[in-house]
Amino acid sequence: MKIIAYGIRDDERPYLEQWSQAQGIDVKAVSELLDETTVDLAKGYDGAVVYQQKPYTAAVLDQLAANGITNLSLRNVGVDNVDAAAVKRNGFKVTNVPAYSPAAIAEFTVTELMRLLRRTPTFDRKQAQGDLRWAPDIADELNSMTVGIVATGRIGRAALKIYQGFGAKVIAYDVFHNPELEKQGLYVDTLDELYAQADVISLHAPATKDNHNMLNDAAFAKMKDGVWIVNPARGALVDTDALIRALDSGKVAGAALDVYENEVGIFNTDFGSFDAIPDERLKNLMRRDNVLVSPHIAFYTKTAVKNMVQYALNNNKQLIETGRADNEVQF
Ligand code: COI
Repeated sequence: MKIIAYGIRDDERPYLEQWSQAQGIDVKAVSELLDETTVDLAKGYDGAVVYQQKPYTAAVLDQLAANGITNLSLRNVGVDNVDAAAVKRNGFKVTNVPAYSPAAIAEFTVTELMRLLRRTPTFDRKQAQGDLRWAPDIADELNSMTVGIVATGRIGRAALKIYQGFGAKVIAYDVFHNPELEKQGLYVDTLDELYAQADVISLHAPATKDNHNMLNDAAFAKMKDGVWIVNPARGALVDTDALIRALDSGKVAGAALDVYENEVGIFNTDFGSFDAIPDERLKNLMRRDNVLVSPHIAFYTKTAVKNMVQYALNNNKQLIETGRADNEVQF
């Protein structure tokens, strides 16, 4: 069995080698991402393990299939960047890693919210300038707030538990109801209800055609004044211009954003200086004391990275051996 793994970073390599040795299976690890210029590297392999945020386009998938590879295992959870029509047309079997560490993302989500509420980034900045005064940066307490969880998949539920641990009242919205949360009576029937009641809106939905820019002007208008927004999920869920308007007006008190609409090619890149970051809207957000931007790092823990690599390799092996896998994604 021959597997090629694209886009392998240095931090992933030891986990890949560990798996390869334990399984006795050779894995060709390349640092290049899968795209039109690298797709031919996969010739002669039985399956490909991939990770990237830039699109898996129809052209790339068509060429991959033409090269004889239709077993594709993503190392991450989101599949919004995969061309579904090309998957179906070419008979691809695609797997993802739905649960490499929901806790990693949930812990980061609440950490960032707490930093915002307690104004620690502002205190860090003031202290670095020798200013050890308290005012005007008086904080807010999570325990007296209502948190609205949008989507109660594994990550949403892990975040929910942490919010409850802080003593917050939690409400949730999802089309699919989790039986445990249903028992606790946490679900509201509509997003409008969640918007009307929540002091914090915590987004945990995958990006789909239907929820593109769901937090837009109309949605912000339905929220409480001074609402806090947390988005560790997908940039496309938030209309960035509408968010900037809502921050300017004070409708939104602050936002913690680990994802951004145009992050591909920007996040996980060193531009050398703040000024050189080639995105004015992102810099507008980053300059604000009440906005925390992080470059899609909620997932980035040792446990998660190890699981992403090794679970994806397991999935690919299973596809190659049996033509099916536990984590197969239906498009
Ligand atoms: C995912 O697993 O889908 C993520 O968002 C993490 C990764 C793409 C950086």
